[in-house]
Amino acid sequence: MTDSYTATRHRMPDLERRIADDPAGFRVLTGERPTGRLHLGHLFGTIRERVRLQSLGVETFVILADYQVITDRDTAANVGDHVRGAVLDYLAAGLDPERTTIFAHSAVPALNQLMLPFLSLVSEAELHRNPTVKAEHAASGRALSGLLLSYPVHQAADILFCKGNLVPVGKDNLPHVEITRTIARRFNERYGATFPEPEAMVTDTPEIPGLDGRKMSKSYGNAIALSMTEDETADAIRRTRTDADRVITYDPQRRPGVSGLLSTAALCVGSSPESVAEQIGDRGSGALKAFTTDAVNAFLAGHRSRREKIAADPDAVGQVLGAGNARANALAQGTLAEVRERMGMGYANA
Ligand code: TRP
Repeated sequence: MTDSYTATRHRMPDLERRIADDPAGFRVLTGERPTGRLHLGHLFGTIRERVRLQSLGVETFVILADYQVITDRDTAANVGDHVRGAVLDYLAAGLDPERTTIFAHSAVPALNQLMLPFLSLVSEAELHRNPTVKAEHAASGRALSGLLLSYPVHQAADILFCKGNLVPVGKDNLPHVEITRTIARRFNERYGATFPEPEAMVTDTPEIPGLDGRKMSKSYGNAIALSMTEDETADAIRRTRTDADRVITYDPQRRPGVSGLLSTAALCVGSSPESVAEQIGDRGSGALKAFTTDAVNAFLAGHRSRREKIAADPDAVGQVLGAGNARANALAQGTLAEVRERMGMGYANA
């Protein structure tokens, strides 16, 4: 996985040039599973990247992969809240529904139906080899569900229904883009040229550490959600475990809590963790926490006030999703009809 990450990183300068030369030649499909509130790590890692691609003039699709929520857990509890919250964060961060299609997995039946022919193009052994599926299965502590085993194929349907050819993803999703390329290639070989072989895109944004120094993740409870109030932010930062050494230094190995705070503050004020540490000097964790709280709240003030304004209109999210779902459905129906035609099932389109 690391090797393909390095290889993908090396391709980025050339890819960026091709995008700048011909933004209309690309269609971005990316997204996430709505398992919680979006946090600072998402904003720095993925959301800003989508806004950047949108502003380069690349047509962009963002999928809220709600069916993926039940790949490794029994419940889809609160999925509706998470979908609505994500749409608010996207809009507040600058995704423009006129240019970017935001839609939900479950609202697009024809997309889901593509999974059937796609499943016929991969072997069980290939599915079992996927390193991310293996890792997620291990972390779930449960039996491997059929949906978890096959979700990379589902993800291929997410990407190919709109013939997306550019897929911004994190490292751990690279195997899924690889299987998508395989499925596209095999479909084209078997039934005639239909799908592009999409390219993965990875950014060089550093992995955002959470408040405890581990990767920022809603499941670790170390994240600062974009939708927190200033007080909730202060509380989350206050609860971070630090140490009694009053001299603040950046040392992720030995001082994960202190270093997590330094990295968070540094990202928000646009400097380095080392220089924030120098600024705090020997004033201890209390001063570091106060500094970090102010830095995060100042950084997120604009986002939060835009979010609040949008949320004040009770129809805003419904309208954006309604329009996005309608557009995704139109494209998915067209692609499914083409797929059936190629497979000799054109009668189904009548
Ligand atoms: N698997 C992605 C995640 O873990 C979410 C996702 C679903 C996705 N479908 C996608 C990402 C299609 C890129 C393209 O968050």
